Amino acid sequence: MRKPFVAGNWKMNTDSHSSVELVERIVVGASKIAGRAVTIAVCPPFVYLQAVAQAVSASSVAVGAQDVYFEQNGAFTGEVSPAMLKDVGCTYVICGHSERRHIIGETDEMINKKIAAALAGGLLPILCIGELLGEREAGQTNKVVTRQIEQGLAGLSAEKLSAVTVAYEPVWAIGTGRTATPQQAQQVHRLIRELLAKIYDEPLAAEIRILYGGSVKPDNCAELMAQPDIDGSLVGGASLKADDFLAIIESAAV
Ligand code: PGA
Repeated sequence: MRKPFVAGNWKMNTDSHSSVELVERIVVGASKIAGRAVTIAVCPPFVYLQAVAQAVSASSVAVGAQDVYFEQNGAFTGEVSPAMLKDVGCTYVICGHSERRHIIGETDEMINKKIAAALAGGLLPILCIGELLGEREAGQTNKVVTRQIEQGLAGLSAEKLSAVTVAYEPVWAIGTGRTATPQQAQQVHRLIRELLAKIYDEPLAAEIRILYGGSVKPDNCAELMAQPDIDGSLVGGASLKADDFLAIIESAAV
């Protein structure tokens, strides 16, 4: 039985005051469903990680970073290492978000190194994958997702894989208000799980949490969560509103 997982990706939003205020409201809401099973994480910008981690320290809410570099230290101006993220209280780290792939230009190879470095540094990576609109329209979805999984996880042992969460986020659904239908999402989640079973084995593939992301809102999360291979969500815009994020958590909790 996979424990549902809801993570909020705050992207480049909030400030030193509003980040703490937002997470404090999430902590209060989370405490009200403390008896139910759900993993909750928030991913603020780097500069607010420490303050947010302090604010959640006595709660069940975990903190994740939105990115990480794959070297341990040294002359990498502007980058942040896994050890630094651990040091300020991170448990999770998002790797390969579509905005980093398509705006910043990260490749599958870089993302693979980030996953390996994150795991070596004791962080739990969330590997984001998903096709562009043009790729979907050209019937390339399965091919793109397969490549992103194979290359993103290349060289990872089964033991390491068990610490990874996958997030399927069709790029055309991110920040657009256009969600994949539950059937469209389920079809790709199934494909991902079958691929993991092929690369590793079925019992391990059955353990891996696969989140859906892309315009997840309180009014569409329940039908997405009802799909057999959807284990939670990676929430962008709606995670910036405590009430909306809590409603999504509430509907995922079992
Ligand atoms: P969205 O973003 O919920 O605003 O579509 C999701 C994401 O990019 O992780």
